[in-house]
Amino acid sequence: MLSKHRGLFGKRALDIGCGGGISTFALEKLGLNVVGLDPQKEMIKMANKAAREINSKAIFIHGNLEDLPKETLFDSIFMLGNVLAHLSVFELNEMLIKLKGLLRKSGFLVIHYADTIGDILNREFFVINHGASRSDIEFTYDIENGAINITVIEKKIREDLYEAERFKIFIWAPWILEIILNNEGFHLMHREYLPRNMILDIYKKLD
Ligand SMILES: C[S@@+](CC[C@H](N)C(=O)[O-])C[C@H]1O[C@@H](n2cnc3c(N)ncnc32)[C@H](O)[C@@H]1O
Repeated sequence: MLSKHRGLFGKRALDIGCGGGISTFALEKLGLNVVGLDPQKEMIKMANKAAREINSKAIFIHGNLEDLPKETLFDSIFMLGNVLAHLSVFELNEMLIKLKGLLRKSGFLVIHYADTIGDILNREFFVINHGASRSDIEFTYDIENGAINITVIEKKIREDLYEAERFKIFIWAPWILEIILNNEGFHLMHREYLPRNMILDIYKKLD
């Protein structure tokens, strides 16, 4: 998916929300020197373990953008595998200010994410993504933060008592992302509509 755009990415890359390293290793395969960043300690542990096993030279850092060495500028920054679903529009907006300081002039920001609204309209959001029958799962709308709260009932202990897992998926769509990035001085260079409502956007930093 990314190899046809390889010429844009330069040499030094940052993979934000690298998780266990799958996206980082894919970027390394393209010939990039990659730093993977993730706020989940367990994920970074897994990524480091995998890196040792496959002899990867990628560097993994646990934390957020402020935990990166300030003196390094990246040629390209990636957020792959729907990292956006973890971020509200407000959080991304704040992050972009720091991110811009880490990206060289005319560098590229690549975001691979789900169009949540398309997902909902195609009814895939409720069925495919969460794979539970409708009686086990409850969706509520967090109107303040632009998110969908999902409660998956795992065990019914009593008529009025459940063991459940609750998580939040932030709502994104291409036009929401584009206006936020435009306001921060990024210009959309390429957009690709992928299967299952996934989108690949490549933005260029203008100043
Ligand atoms: C679905 S995984 C994607 C992992 C990887 N990029 C891939 O493509 O396989 C999303 C990752 O985003 C991370 N994440 C959550 N909140 C974040 C934040 N505020 N900043 C950076 N990463 C975040 C999560 O810890 C998780 O590992």
